[in-house]
Amino acid sequence: MSAQQDVKHHEEPASFAFDAESEAQIEKILKRYPAGKEASAVIPLLYVVQKQMGRATGSAWVPRVAMDVVATRLHMAPIRVYEVATFYFMFNTKPIGRFHLQVCGTTPCWLRGSDEVLRACKDAGALKGYGDTSEDGIFTLSEVECLGGCVNAPVLAVDDDYYEDLDYESTVKLIEALKRGERPTPGSARGRLCSAPEGGPEVLLDIPLKAPADAAGRKGE
Ligand code: FES
Repeated sequence: MSAQQDVKHHEEPASFAFDAESEAQIEKILKRYPAGKEASAVIPLLYVVQKQMGRATGSAWVPRVAMDVVATRLHMAPIRVYEVATFYFMFNTKPIGRFHLQVCGTTPCWLRGSDEVLRACKDAGALKGYGDTSEDGIFTLSEVECLGGCVNAPVLAVDDDYYEDLDYESTVKLIEALKRGERPTPGSARGRLCSAPEGGPEVLLDIPLKAPADAAGRKGE
């Protein structure tokens, strides 16, 4: 069975249990909320589920049995967890490829060339279009609405990492690197520091400027 078939025919697991890494995260998350208000942690716990599935199976998604586990843990009716998981597009309720390519197609990115980013994803990732998973199971392609990085449009999110200021060539280069098992540093493909002008900042020069660490703790350049 090919990797794609694995993804497309992946069945709902019979059961789900949080692993030790997830349990450690959940302990910290639940401390943010007062007793009796645990339901407020539903989004972070669904995110913990999705991350664990990615670690365990290579496909970051949220099976229904895991939603039931979240409901039990947070003393919620299962339907309330289903409502949240199916409302937010950040949660994948079906199996996906190892890398989730999310092309922002909202106006600023579209005006700045998101059609070329899409074309590059299709060409380099061997993808037919939005909603498709590549034959080798490496990529799933989705269109998303504004990712909040318009100043560096067009933006392609790969899982949680933002790749910005892309064009056809730089997107192909990124996808080829992912295929080789590399993970290029997120951020501007044209070397901009955050959203500063190309060539460096032109104002507030007396304030030291450092690129923030990304979600995985890596420093930008
Ligand atoms: S429109 Fe693409 S990040 Fe805002």
